[in-house]
Amino acid sequence: MDYEELLTRARAAALPVLGRGQPADYIPALACADPYDFGMALATVDGEVHGTGEWRKPFSVQSVSKLFALSLALAHGGTALWKRVGREPSGNPFNSLIQLESEHGIPRNPFINAGALVVTDALLSLTGDARGAVVDFLREESGNASLAVDPAVAASEAEHGHRNAALAHFMASFGNLHNPVEEVLEHYFAHCSVAADCRDLALAGGFLARHGLRADGSRLFGRGDAKRINAVLLTCGAYDAAGEFAYRVGLPGKSGVGGGILAIVPGRGAVCAWSPGLDAVGNSVGAMAALEDFTARSDWSVF
Ligand code: DON
Repeated sequence: MDYEELLTRARAAALPVLGRGQPADYIPALACADPYDFGMALATVDGEVHGTGEWRKPFSVQSVSKLFALSLALAHGGTALWKRVGREPSGNPFNSLIQLESEHGIPRNPFINAGALVVTDALLSLTGDARGAVVDFLREESGNASLAVDPAVAASEAEHGHRNAALAHFMASFGNLHNPVEEVLEHYFAHCSVAADCRDLALAGGFLARHGLRADGSRLFGRGDAKRINAVLLTCGAYDAAGEFAYRVGLPGKSGVGGGILAIVPGRGAVCAWSPGLDAVGNSVGAMAALEDFTARSDWSVF
């Protein structure tokens, strides 16, 4: 397969729609991103890497970090987590408070903000350092030792994170956070604020394409966990547009309000597309268009 040609075509499909998206501005540090930036990278299960556009330009990974936090919590033996967070699409915005009261403080899934706060809390209990666990894992899988949290973005999130604070306190009132709320929020904001590029994320997603095997050949977790995480990514990874994402792209994937989307092709590899302009529900317009084109022209799809 000519991956360079596929990526060039995917970029060409994205460029005309870039102006239709708006960078996230509810986190002020993200608002200055250029909606005309676009990058895309793919990494095969054997470690072959290809990229196009601004694929080496770091961006804020935001909710893409949630898939790593969940994977690490499960790898550290956190299966009891599934008593504290569900596995159903929410059908509501990623920062919604509305279901939490009627569902007794149990978030619908690990990829909405409430669910990711519970996962971060569990990872903090399991490792003592949720932020460090995510950053170390991303560094090791990508081979990029300089990958790090962007402190300005983390501070901006903390300063404007009233909704996440509300979600966390509300869940604490149900006994569904075990660590101090402020500590959970600090680790959550930190892992969302990691700066990484398309190459880093495509490589870091490889363990889900290799059915649980890390880049160095060691096993993070069993095939069953990789299957289950890919399934939850497919059904819940793109906020309240998970159905639209599955329809258009046909892959398990996780999007973030920094404009990145990391998609997994089990047995083949991982693809990361990025452009900061978001649609109304918070998914990158350009990344969606590029991934749709890529899966339409290649056999990189689960369907
Ligand atoms: O908590 C927030 O709102 C951001 N750190 C992440 C939001 C995001 O990317 C959407 N998530 N599902």
